[in-house]
Formats: sequence, C-alpha cells, structure tokens
Amino acid sequence: MSDKNIVATSDAEIAVHWQEEDYFYPPPSFIHQANLVDETIGDRFSLDKFPEYYKEFAELLTWYKYWDEVLDTSDAPCWKWFRGGKLNASFNCIDRHLTENKNKTAIHFVPELEEERVLHVTYQELFVRVNEFAALLRDTAKLKRGDRVTIHMPMSAELPITMLACARLGIIHSVVFGGFSASACADRIVDSNSRVLITMDAYYRSGKLLDHKAVDDEACVLAEKEGQKVDTLLVWQRYPGRMSTKTSLVGGRDIVVNEELKNYYGARVKPVQMLAEEPLFLMYTSGTTGKPKGAQHGTGGYLAYVTAMSKYIQDIHPEDVYWCMADIGWITGHSFIVYGPLALGASTVIYEGVPTYPDAGRCWRIAQDLDVNIFHTAPTAIRALRKVGPDEPAKYNYHFKHMTTVGEPIEPEVWKWYHKVVGKGKAVIVDTYWQTETGGFLCASLPGMQPMKPGSTGPGVPGIHTIIFDENGNIIPRGSGKAGNICIQNPWPGCFQTIWGNRKRFVDTYFGMYNKNPSSKDWRDWPYLTGDAAMEAADGYIRILGRIDDVINVSGHRLGTKEIESAALTVPEIAEAAVVPVAHEIKGKEPELYVSLKPGFDPSPELQKKVADAVVTQIGKIARCKNVWIVPDMPKTRSGKIMRRVLGAISNRGDVGNVMTLANPEIVDQIKDMVS
Ligand code: PRX
Repeated sequence: MSDKNIVATSDAEIAVHWQEEDYFYPPPSFIHQANLVDETIGDRFSLDKFPEYYKEFAELLTWYKYWDEVLDTSDAPCWKWFRGGKLNASFNCIDRHLTENKNKTAIHFVPELEEERVLHVTYQELFVRVNEFAALLRDTAKLKRGDRVTIHMPMSAELPITMLACARLGIIHSVVFGGFSASACADRIVDSNSRVLITMDAYYRSGKLLDHKAVDDEACVLAEKEGQKVDTLLVWQRYPGRMSTKTSLVGGRDIVVNEELKNYYGARVKPVQMLAEEPLFLMYTSGTTGKPKGAQHGTGGYLAYVTAMSKYIQDIHPEDVYWCMADIGWITGHSFIVYGPLALGASTVIYEGVPTYPDAGRCWRIAQDLDVNIFHTAPTAIRALRKVGPDEPAKYNYHFKHMTTVGEPIEPEVWKWYHKVVGKGKAVIVDTYWQTETGGFLCASLPGMQPMKPGSTGPGVPGIHTIIFDENGNIIPRGSGKAGNICIQNPWPGCFQTIWGNRKRFVDTYFGMYNKNPSSKDWRDWPYLTGDAAMEAADGYIRILGRIDDVINVSGHRLGTKEIESAALTVPEIAEAAVVPVAHEIKGKEPELYVSLKPGFDPSPELQKKVADAVVTQIGKIARCKNVWIVPDMPKTRSGKIMRRVLGAISNRGDVGNVMTLANPEIVDQIKDMVS
C-alpha cells in the first residue's frame, strides 16, 4: 500500500485499491488433519436453522446443567444465550483436562530476557495456582460473584492465572492493557466500580525493566479523585526487591501476592456454578465519544463461541502448540490466548516482550524451541518483522501448519511474504475479521475447505450471516462488490451482552441505525452494526475497508479520535483539537493532531510537546501522535464545524477538494504550508 493510493479523510474513507484476485489453496497435509472438513456445513448453519445450530458450539463445553433455551430474545437486543444453563469457565479451561492431561503444558511463558528460562505451566500446576489465588481473592480481598476487579498487568503467566481465578469465583474481571497509562486505568476502575486492583511489580520491554507498580499507585490516586477508592491493591512480584514494591507499599492497601499466597498453599476452591448469561468479563474499547465503553461478555455464550472458533477456524487440536502474539490486555488475547485454547486443552504460548527484541530472529527462535505449529499475529507485527528481518525465518527450524492474522487489513504483498517466508509456503493463512464486541470471529475463510485470498477476509464464519447496507438502509446485492456498512443479520453467542452500565448506548450504537421497531422481540429486526465499511466480491469473500465512525485503527488497535482530542483539551492553552489518521508503513495508521490556541497564547515547541505528552499521559504510548500542529484556526464550515476531512487530506498529501464553501477557506493554504 503506497501513500499515493490513499486519500485519507476519515478512517472509513480511506480507499485502498487492491487489484489482487489470486487464490491460494490449503495443502493436502493440512486438509487431512483439519477439524472442519464438512461439505454440509453451509446447510447445517443456514439461517433457517438459527439459533439451534449454536447448540453444536455449546456442546464443546462441560456443563453442570444444560440450558432451557438456546436463545432468549425477551430482552431484545440484549440476547441471552443458553439461558438456564450452568457452567464455570475456569473449570472448562482447567479441571476438565486433568483426568487425561494433567502433565501437559497449559502455558509456556517466554520472558523477554532470553537468559530467564521459559516457564512451562502444566494443567495440574495451573489448577493449583488458580485455586490458591482464588482462595486469596475470596478470603483476603473479600471478592465474590458479580464483583468487578480491574487487572492491570503485563504479559506473564500470572495474568491468565488471575483471570481464571476470577472466573472460578464468578468475579467479573476487567483487564486493562498493561501499556495503558495511570489515567486510562483509573477511568476503567471508576467506570467498573472496582474496589480491588491487581498489578505486578515490573516487566521487561525492549530490554528495560519498567516499574509498573508505580503506574498503579498513581491510578489509585486518580480513581479516588473521581470517586472510586481502591481499598486493596494486590501486587504480584516478579522481581522481589528490585522495584518500588520494596519501598513504596501503601499500608492497609497494598498486599504482596507472593507473600500472602503462603497462607493459601494447598487451598482448593470449588468453581461457582455460573448461569450461562452471567457476565464473565468487561473489556473496554474505544468508541465515538471520549469515554471508553465496557463491553460486557457473558459466560456460556462467549466461552462456547471462542472454543468453537479456536477449534474450527484456528484448527487447534489438543496436541498443538499455539502461539498468539497479541497482548492479553486486548480481546484477541482473552479469546485466543486464554479462553479458547485452554478450553480445548492445547498448549498456549505467552511471550512477554517485543517481537524484534533482541534481534529480528527472536520470534522464529521461540517458534523453533517450543515447536509452535499454529501462529497468530497482526499485520502490524508482520510488517515490522518483514522490515527488520525479511530473511530471518529461513534460518530457523520450525513448521507452522496454520497462521492467523487479525485486526486490520493486510496488504497482498505483505500477505505473500507471510505465506512464503514465515509459513514456508506450507501453512494455511486465515484473515480473521472481528471486534472487541463480537467476542470471536465474524468473517474468515475455512482453513481446510476454502482457498485463501490475500487482502480479503473470508465470508461469514459458520453461523454468521452478513448483510451490507447502503447509506439509505437498502440492502446491497450479495457479491456485487459495492461498498456499504457491514452488519450481521443474526445474533451469535460470542456477541457482547451490553455496555457496562449503559444499555442505551449499547442499543443506540450497535442497533440504532437499522432497527425500525425498538419494541420488537424478533431477532430479525435487530441487525448488528459493526461500524465498518466493507464489500463482498462475487466469490462471497469480504474485504474490510475501514471504520465508518470516529475510530482510528493503529497497529490493529482502536483509538477513538474523541479520546485523543479530549486528552489534548486538558492542556489549558488549547481551544480546539482535531485528530486525523495518517498512513503509516508499519502501524497501518497513526493519529496526527491539529490544535488551535486560546486567545493570548502563542505557539511554541514547548507547547507542542506539552500537548503530545498530555495524550500519552492520558491514554498511553499507543496513542502517541505523529505530529502536533498548532494552527492559527481550524478549517470550518459556516456553521462552525471543524472539517476533519480537509485536515485528513492535508496530512495525507491528498486532494482537499473544493474548500470555497468553508467559512475560512484561506486557512487551508496556511495549514498546507505549515505541514508540507
Ligand atoms: O475495523 C475493523 C478492524 O478492527 C476493528 C476492531 O478492532 P478491535 O475491537 O480493537 O478488535 C481488534 C481485534 C479483533 C474492526 O471494526 N479489523 C479487525 N479485524 C480486521 C479488521 N480490518 C480488516 N481486516 C481484519 N481482519
């Protein structure tokens, strides 16, 4: 994708013109062992058999009690899946594997420093550690079913242990990406009303030991200012004595987990029998307002869905070693590092650090040494690995049967490198399209049954029936190649249940655009709006074109433009702020920020830095802007609306179009001169 192909105005309007129509076919060796090779699948999962076909997914799990009804629509569109059924996610990911596989590795934890050896946690060991920590959560932290707890931890074996201990007790976990700032973490603590925060002392990033606990000390202070006191901060110690946990424990609040666990050695905690529709976790994600929303995922539906996706789309067998390089702090990590693979009894790899640290061969060494055969990552990482070490994979002796991509479109030439060089021409690639809200995949090709098409995801996965609407709400004919808003016609078990504490926002955002009868209890009246533009080719493959809302996809992660603009506006000198996406070779896109000043203030490099730093402090490094431009004024319509489209065109060196209708057309050339 070269810059000249892109006319960036909003994220959704980025037009990417790929002419790629090649197909690649799964090798016979893959097909022979694939979990899903069934010509009747389309018929079995046709819409007229909805919702009963989803029983097949639920039957992959172990239930204390089977459900009374597959789908309860009485509270539409807050669907209840497998209503009346009872199960426990921790039991399904651990206990049920013990009879046959207790000595098998559940988690391979790979520290960033190679001299720290890999930790191999067996299912039996996972069982012991989850039980002990669950006892601590119950008896020391006084947490119980339905309470929320915020977890702000780096990649470590202790992170899934913490999540699974919560799940064992029915505590709703809210994991916040470890790289998020104190302020972002505090917002999530407040919104979820967490009185307990779980953290870790430190972790390595690019060879540097970072003091993580210090970030959460600040998060506690900020949360309290916003009205939510953290009365217990649980601190896992990886490097006892080396970080601030040694010197800065806050009396009455901080508990060092490693010490406290000594009181629980040998403890066993019976898994709580959760109703299928009870929440399992919250995952905050960006939307169109400044405030991130807590996507609430249920227990039975979510777990059934991610288990089925892991089995049929990622082709995970219990004997596979599976490595998903996402961070557990995002939905990909929840669904496809922790819950899906562990529910299937596979071995899942967790890597602490930067893929290219200390050198471009690190990933392939890990793959070789752990004998990884399924690999899962985002186009951003693939681009970076290709750039720093295009020939590295050939130097290592590993063999992938399956590779997944997720989170953003992958350019065909990057796809081909992934296929030929990383996959050595022998792996199947599945481009999975989905979202935080959807829990698991929406679209993908079926790895053992359908060809791969670089640059496109696949059709809807079994059970998912896509539909594309034009801006007037008319259905775009299937296979016409015309772009529109992609929606899902039917509910599915992995879909989030609501936005935590804000049902109205849930209904309005995801169903408001195409629902014509708000009191309907018929699922057919509630197509789910993904917020993406897409087109379906004649072969049924879908190409995702980008967001239709104010969300920027940076390195496969979502950032709300309003979130960044709100952060900039915390700087007292700033009057107005506008963010636009700019094409970036590795990250896909990057935010670029325009600000104007209040009267009486002058632009300066210091002020630019102050604004740039405010964004990082409020959100995290992931939101760092390419540039902060202090402009004399924003291009505006006569009614005073900032024309982000014009700023986007300037940033991407595109055509600004006719600007004579603006209230201040002369500003466009001034900004252009400044930026070029
Ligand atoms: O715009 C789509 C893009 O990422 C958004 C979802 O982001 P998030 O909730 O952070 O979840 C990322 C991991 C699931 C979508 O609305 N997206 C996701 N997968 C793809 C994609 N764009 C193109 N191709 C994909 N495979």
